[in-house]
Amino acid sequence: MAVASMLVLAFTGILLAFTYTPSSEMVTYDGPYAPLVGAEVSAAFDSTMDISFAQIGGMLIRQTHHWAALLMPAAMVLQILALFFTGGFRRPRRAGWVLLTLAFLTVLLAGWSGYALPDDMLSGTGLRIVEGVVLGIPVIGTRLVSWMFGGRFPGEIVEHLYPVHVLIAPTLVVLLLLTRGWLAYRHGSPGPAGTGTPVQASLGLRLWPDAAMRAVGLTAITSSVLVLLGATSTINPIWTYGPTSAGNVGAGSQPDWYMGFLDGALRLVPAGWETEWFGWTWTFAILAPLAVVGVYFVLVIAYPFVESWVTNDSAEHHVLDRPRNVPVRTGIGVAGALFYGILWAAAGSDVLATTFSISFEAIITTLQVALVVGPPLAFGITRRIGIGLQRRDRKVLLHGHETGRIVRTPNGGYVETHQPITAGERVRLAVTPAPIPPARPDQDGRLTHRERLRGVLARQFEDGHVAIARPDAEQAPTRGQLSARDHPQPR
Ligand code: HEM
Repeated sequence: MAVASMLVLAFTGILLAFTYTPSSEMVTYDGPYAPLVGAEVSAAFDSTMDISFAQIGGMLIRQTHHWAALLMPAAMVLQILALFFTGGFRRPRRAGWVLLTLAFLTVLLAGWSGYALPDDMLSGTGLRIVEGVVLGIPVIGTRLVSWMFGGRFPGEIVEHLYPVHVLIAPTLVVLLLLTRGWLAYRHGSPGPAGTGTPVQASLGLRLWPDAAMRAVGLTAITSSVLVLLGATSTINPIWTYGPTSAGNVGAGSQPDWYMGFLDGALRLVPAGWETEWFGWTWTFAILAPLAVVGVYFVLVIAYPFVESWVTNDSAEHHVLDRPRNVPVRTGIGVAGALFYGILWAAAGSDVLATTFSISFEAIITTLQVALVVGPPLAFGITRRIGIGLQRRDRKVLLHGHETGRIVRTPNGGYVETHQPITAGERVRLAVTPAPIPPARPDQDGRLTHRERLRGVLARQFEDGHVAIARPDAEQAPTRGQLSARDHPQPR
C-alpha cells in the first residue's frame, strides 16, 4: 500500500507540477473563486487555486495527491507495528527495519514540505511553528532560520522547499524503499507466526506470477480508493483558509496527521521553560520536545540491535513470533505506541477543548500525567496479559480445548471432557522459548557494568516466557478414554 501510494503521489505530483508555481512573489488573485478576487496572494497560492478551480480535473488530482500523502505514512506505520510485534525485525531483516523507519521519516519530510507549498494560512502556521522551533536551537538557530527561509519570515521558503519536495525527498524515499524491497526479496518473506515455515515454502508463493499479481491487484485497489477519495472527499480546502499571513493563525489549525506527534510534543512542555547560559537563551520548551522525539526515533531504529544484545541472540529468524510469546517486547511496543499516541492526541488539544467544552489546561495536564504514567502502566498490563495468554495456550496444549461437557466417571467423580487439538494448533502452541543467558563474567572473572546491565534486562525478558511444563505431553483424553487414574476424583 505504501508503494502504491508512492506511485499515485509521483503520478499526481508530476501533473501538479505542470501548473504549480513555486514562487512567493505577490500577485492579485483574479480567478473564479469570487470571495478572494482582488486579494494579494503569493504566486504559489494563486497557482494552487488555479489547479483547484480553473484546471479541468485539477481538484481531483490535488485531492488525490493529498489523500495519498495521508495514506502512505499510515501504511508504513502499520508495517512498522506489524514487524515490531511479530519480531520481523530480527536478523537477517534488521537492515530492512532501519530502512523502513528512515523511509517513514523521509515521508514526513516530503509531507511537511508539500503541506507548505500551497502557501495558504495552514501552510503559514506550520512554517511559523517550524521557524520558532529552529530559532529555539541555541547558537546556530538564527543562522539556520535565515538559511532555510532566505531572510525574514516567510522569505523564500516556498522556493527553497520546492526542490526538497519534488526531487530530494521523493528520490530518497524511493531509494530507501527499493533497497528495502531488494533485501526483502533476497531474504524471502518470514513465515507467519505459528506455522514453523517461511511463507514462500508454506504457501508456494513465487515472485512471478503469484506475488507480482498480488502486488498489482493491491496497487490497483489502493489507487482506486485514493482516486475515489480525491473525487468525493474534500481535503485541504485552501480557499476557506485564505492566503498565508505572517500575523494571523486560524483557530483550530491542525497539521496533517503524521506531523501531529511533533506538534503535540511542543504543546505538552510546561510553560516558561527557558533560561540564559553563556549569553545564549536556552529554550527547553523547544529543546526538550526535540530531544524527546529524537531519542524516541533513535530507540525505534536501534531496538532490533538492543534486543539481540540483551537476549544474546544472533541467530537468523525466518518465522515470526506471536506477540504473546515475547510479552516484554510486546509490552515495550504498546508503551511506545501509547507514548506516540499521547503526543499525537496533544496536537488536537485545542480542538478537543472547544469540541467537548473542557478546559484546555485540564487536557494538557491530563496528557502530561498520562505521558509519564501511561507507558510504564501499559507495559506492565500488556506483559501480564501476554503471560496470561501463554499460560492459557500451555493449558490447551496439555489438555486440549475445554468442551463444557461434564461427564461422570465410573467411580462417581465428575470431569470435563476435552477436545484434542489439531496438529496445526500443536505447532502453533508448542513454542519453546530459547533460554536467555544470564550475565556472565569475562575471562578475568569480572562482571562488567555492561554485562551486569545486560543480565538485569535479560532476566526481565526471561521472566515473560512461560515454559511448557511437559513439551511432549499426551493430549487430554477424550470422553471415551477417561479413566479415574488420569482424573482423580475431585473432593
Ligand atoms: C512521498 C512523496 C510525497 C508526499 C508525501 C507529498 C505530499 C504533498 C502534500 C501533502 C501536498 C499538499 C497538497 C495540497 O495542496 O493539499 C503536496 C503538494 C504538492 N506536491 Fe507532493 N508529495 C509527494 C511527492 C511529490 C512528487 C514526487 C511531486 C512531483 C514530482 C510532487 C509535487 C507536488 C506539487 C507540485 C505540490 C503543490 C501543489 C498543491 O499543493 O496542490 N509531490 N505534496
